[in-house]
Amino acid sequence: MNRLDFEGRTAVVTGGAAGIGLAVARRMALSGARVALWDLDARALAAAAVGLGHGALTHTLDVTDPHAVERATAATAKEFGRIDALVCSAGIAGPNHPTWEYPVDDWKRVFDINVNGVFLCNRFVVPVMMKRDYGRIVNIASIAGKEGNPNASAYSASKAGVIGLTKSIGKELAKTGIRVNCVTPAAVRTAIFDQITPQFIEYMLAKIPMGRFGTVDEIAAMVAWLASEDCSFSTGAVFDLSGGRATY
Ligand SMILES: NC(=O)c1ccc[n+]([C@@H]2O[C@H](COP(=O)([O-])OP(=O)(O)OC[C@H]3O[C@@H](n4cnc5c(N)ncnc54)[C@H](O)[C@@H]3O)[C@@H](O)[C@H]2O)c1
Repeated sequence: MNRLDFEGRTAVVTGGAAGIGLAVARRMALSGARVALWDLDARALAAAAVGLGHGALTHTLDVTDPHAVERATAATAKEFGRIDALVCSAGIAGPNHPTWEYPVDDWKRVFDINVNGVFLCNRFVVPVMMKRDYGRIVNIASIAGKEGNPNASAYSASKAGVIGLTKSIGKELAKTGIRVNCVTPAAVRTAIFDQITPQFIEYMLAKIPMGRFGTVDEIAAMVAWLASEDCSFSTGAVFDLSGGRATY
């Protein structure tokens, strides 16, 4: 593992109790960052924090709850004295259905977590970053947001929303010391696979020219760099992590 320089830096990772978020948190902690994990799953959070060192914090919260996100932001900023990086990884896949059969409640839940949750975390953490005129935000979108996966319209549309949000806020903050980017991974085997059908998993694998899934560590490597000081001239940008699937 290449060690980035996160000495003295602090980071919030939503969805940090598992999967991609946890891999990002580990990589940043191993590079010297103090990390706060924000996640819905209290038990997984407690297990995840073990071994992160550097005085890791955990907050059990639902990213769709504005008051909870505001409280966690204030508590993290108070404990750390600053928030240098925010990685928004909390997300769900939602079920697989054709759009005309998609359960309306599932559609709303996917949007609430994947789009509104990212908005709320960006919304409340940016003012903390502005006080020091420094910050790095990485929102986890998906290749589905660029291409539109069949039978996953809620997920695809929500991730297109994350891309649009990232582009807007990146431009809004371009003259500041805060950079906001997103990544668009293809499929990576994590617990999120439990939410989708075996046929859909086969479909996603077949679309990847490398012929394999990505790994959480491969995603974490790029995300950690985007969350570091070295990422200085990229903002409002979309970074590919798709084993050759993305064509733009
Ligand atoms: N794994 C993939 O194939 C893949 C591909 C592209 C993008 N992504 C995106 O990467 C991100 C992480 O996915 P993952 O594969 O690590 O999934 P995961 O299920 O392993 O982890 C997601 C984490 O988010 C948390 N979470 C879910 N809803 C939440 C809420 N309302 N509030 C707070 N925390 C909540 C879960 O408890 C879990 O710990 C997601 O945004 C996902 O859409 C994943």
